Amino acid sequence: MGAMNARHDIQHIAPASLASPLVLRCGATARNRFLKAPMNEALAGPEARPTAEHVTLYRRWADSGCGILVTGNVMVDRNQLGEPGNVAVEDERDLPTLRAWAKAGAANGAQLWMQINHPGKQSPATINPHPVAPSATGTSGEYSRFFASPRELSVDEIHAIVRRFATTAAIARKAGFTGVEIHAAHGYLINQFLSPLDNRRADEYGGSLDNRMRFLTEVVEAAREAVGEDFPVAVKINSSDGIDGGFSEEESLKVIARLDAMGVDLIDISGGTMAGKPVIQTNGGAAEDQTRGVYFAGFATKLRALFDDGKEHMAVALTGGFRSAPDMRRALESGMADVVGLGRPLVVAPNFPKQVMAGGFERPLRLPRVSTGVRALDRAFNGVLVISWYESQMHRLAVGKAPKTDGRHLGIMALAFALRKHGPGALAPRRRKGHR
Ligand SMILES: Cc1cc2nc3c(=O)[nH]c(=O)nc-3n(C[C@H](O)[C@H](O)[C@H](O)COP(=O)(O)O)c2cc1C
Repeated sequence: MGAMNARHDIQHIAPASLASPLVLRCGATARNRFLKAPMNEALAGPEARPTAEHVTLYRRWADSGCGILVTGNVMVDRNQLGEPGNVAVEDERDLPTLRAWAKAGAANGAQLWMQINHPGKQSPATINPHPVAPSATGTSGEYSRFFASPRELSVDEIHAIVRRFATTAAIARKAGFTGVEIHAAHGYLINQFLSPLDNRRADEYGGSLDNRMRFLTEVVEAAREAVGEDFPVAVKINSSDGIDGGFSEEESLKVIARLDAMGVDLIDISGGTMAGKPVIQTNGGAAEDQTRGVYFAGFATKLRALFDDGKEHMAVALTGGFRSAPDMRRALESGMADVVGLGRPLVVAPNFPKQVMAGGFERPLRLPRVSTGVRALDRAFNGVLVISWYESQMHRLAVGKAPKTDGRHLGIMALAFALRKHGPGALAPRRRKGHR
């Protein structure tokens, strides 16, 4: 990035408080340290188009107290979706709805960033019989039957997908979104390129880590060129895939260092893939959730050590497992992160950041247990229950209702919702069960 000198110094005021603003390298300011994590809203209409419900949902979250809201993953190709109900933005046909979405989400001074993604082979066969991937290797694991075998992308097709990311980023800016986040985590296409297991290519996009990260760095460069120097470009990345032979912590630190040198504004740390260890817990509820604690904290500490050299660096967001004010304060005060990412808490408690800043949640928020009450059903639909239940609650928020966390057997509600919204194909899992 030639213009790095002109870019703003990020302010790591130590120890930062959750309510203190954060100036990003590009000059944009987040009003505080809370980031709403990207969650597929499953609200798209026919042809993966955004809807009035997205507008209502993000108006609600703009009032949550979060400094940064990241949308659920928006796909760059309407024929390549990662989950039912994904939005796709590949041209300007939906500009009016996107403008309304951006205006609602960026109200009250919130940053609203569009997460941009391509699923690669992690695209259920029920919605995509023709997935593409770095290499023609299928998805392994017990759910492999839910995914069609992918075809290897040609170099020209890779270049075309890079251009699609840039096009979607440019439309996001034009519509009034205030930033973009490139999704390089959770086993989707960019992560497939990074992974030595998924990427068996012998050309300039495969083999060495430099080659495996080429697709990501080209996407980031193209997105930056599309949105300009004064606009936040963030990347969500895996600390590791959590699978033997997959993208490792050591490699992730090297990729992050490269992204930092390229001028990326914020790195959002996550982990896992659908075929391996999913980031999201299954139906263990609060007890299991709290045992796990803050996710990827060890990795974030290693990253901080790397960045502790007196130089100016990208901001670091850490996402997963934040349920209490003390955990969030500790993450900032220890220097482990500049920003805390919140996913499920913002669905069950849409004012969570406001409540924390007002002195609440000294004790952890308890996530509900999403169980059908029938062990065999819980086991059979383990990968679907939790995601579907959170989707069903986002759908309530999207029509102006409050979340409904009481009642027994939330899992039955979740299954009924999934069948009604997405048909039987919905019962194909979107995250695999059971692992941490
Ligand atoms: C319903 C649902 C949908 C999700 N969709 C996305 C997504 O589109 N993009 C993404 O990067 N992560 C997605 N995630 C993962 C979250 O961003 C986050 O990393 C994860 O939920 C852990 O954070 P939490 O413990 O605060 O929920 C999703 C999670 C849930 C529950």
